[in-house]
Amino acid sequence: MARAPRTAAIRTRTDTQPLRFSPAVQMGSIEGAKAENGVAAPACNGGDQRNGGGGGALPDGEAEAGRRGKVGAAAAVLPLEVGTRVMCRWRDQKLHPVKVIERRKIPNAGPNDYEYYVHYTEFNRRLDEWVKLEQLDLDTVEADIDEKVEDKATSLKMTRHQKRKIDETHVEKGHEELDAASLREHEEFTKVKNIAKIELGRYEIDTWYFSPFPPEYNDSSKLYFCEFCLNFMKRKEQLQRHMRKCDLKHPPGDEIYRSGTLSMFEVDGKKNKVYGQNLCYLAKLFLDHKTLYYDVDLFLFYVLCECDDRGCHMVGYFSKEKHSEESYNLACILTLPPYQRKGYGKFLIAFSYELSKKEGKVGTPERPLSDLGLLSYRGYWTRVLLDILKKHKSNISIKELSDMTAIKADDILSTLQSLDLIQYRKGQHVICADPKVLDRHLKAAGRGGLEVDVSKLIWTPYKEQG
Ligand code: ACO
Ligand code: ZN
Repeated sequence: MARAPRTAAIRTRTDTQPLRFSPAVQMGSIEGAKAENGVAAPACNGGDQRNGGGGGALPDGEAEAGRRGKVGAAAAVLPLEVGTRVMCRWRDQKLHPVKVIERRKIPNAGPNDYEYYVHYTEFNRRLDEWVKLEQLDLDTVEADIDEKVEDKATSLKMTRHQKRKIDETHVEKGHEELDAASLREHEEFTKVKNIAKIELGRYEIDTWYFSPFPPEYNDSSKLYFCEFCLNFMKRKEQLQRHMRKCDLKHPPGDEIYRSGTLSMFEVDGKKNKVYGQNLCYLAKLFLDHKTLYYDVDLFLFYVLCECDDRGCHMVGYFSKEKHSEESYNLACILTLPPYQRKGYGKFLIAFSYELSKKEGKVGTPERPLSDLGLLSYRGYWTRVLLDILKKHKSNISIKELSDMTAIKADDILSTLQSLDLIQYRKGQHVICADPKVLDRHLKAAGRGGLEVDVSKLIWTPYKEQG
């Protein structure tokens, strides 16, 4: 599938202007915008080209006739209710179905002048955004009364699975005792992004999800981060003042890997609590179904940097529990949006397995995986396993593959099953690897990502001190 250019939004640096990086442009890369239901977002040209569309100019009548619950422009009561389903003109200039998540009054405007926070039901939540009324096709408003009644009912009768799903998006620990109504309230609270943009180093980045910053930051739509200590501020002048006195030029902690301009730092959450917390606040802006732990003591953070004469600039990171009973070798992984699709994600994944090999353990990433997380892991697992299968002439078992790669047997099995390379014979799984089929899958698995040069890794597994 053709990939739209992703660098369109990253312009040449000027000293006064940070480089703008909007995920919407990245969404032009079709697969990236896949929703939970697997529907791909249309390619877009990049940039913020929204022009409002104008409900009146939209096709109406016959084409839309028969749409369930349609009430028509005349009957659409303004302001629209939260929960309303309607078609919305996206930045690709096409109409897409949305659900209204929230609404807010436009200051100094008429009594019915609202803007609406919408979720594009075909796409991932990171595309949720505030839109103007003109972008909504009021001819397509669906009568939604039944659904709202249903919503109320489900809020009181949540299944354990639903409760767990909400727990996963929950941002504080100790919420297990919350009743269904409080959980619902919480879900409502995290539905709307609180921080729209951040400035970090030379980039201005649009955020993807809600992150539970301390309440005093919630009235700022943009936050300014020091790219080295990750302290965040509400105003640019505060950041400038901070940069004059901040003496960090790289993440606090030990440099455990250096190859060319790439360095990896290991930061102990116990020794660098504030840094660990800042990193979590930052990361949550791009991670949806993850819990934000304030208890960073229990984690190590592996921060990948591109280094130059101005310092070591964070590209991404992964966190790892110091002790995991579930054999997790990675808790959260993030490549900052301006650096995505350059192979850093696979580098971080490969790095996490190199650490596991040094520990003499198998590992697996903490679940749930995000859509992009699953794509990256599947790509990594496929490449690593098929490379071995190609070279290995004799039969090889899943256990042997696991020993060689530190990939957990379940992940090996599911990867090979998804590639249709496993048969169940005489009560056991057998790998059936025709060289031609392997080549085809390898080609489809994409690029290998940046290589980890193990000879440059100087690291000993974590040991509790004292
Ligand atoms: N569209 C389509 N495929 C994609 C996309 C995308 N936007 N992003 C990644 N992929 C797939 C591709 O197969 C890609 O390989 P390719 O470029 O060779 O085709 C592969 O994943 C990995 O690409 P990388 O360049 O190595 O990875 P990247 O640096 O972009 O990082 C990551 C991947 C970390 C998942 C990034 O997308 C990210 O930070 N996302 C937001 C946070 C997140 O979802 N993290 C995972 C949560 S799960 C967990 O933490 C355990
Ligand atoms: Zn600083």
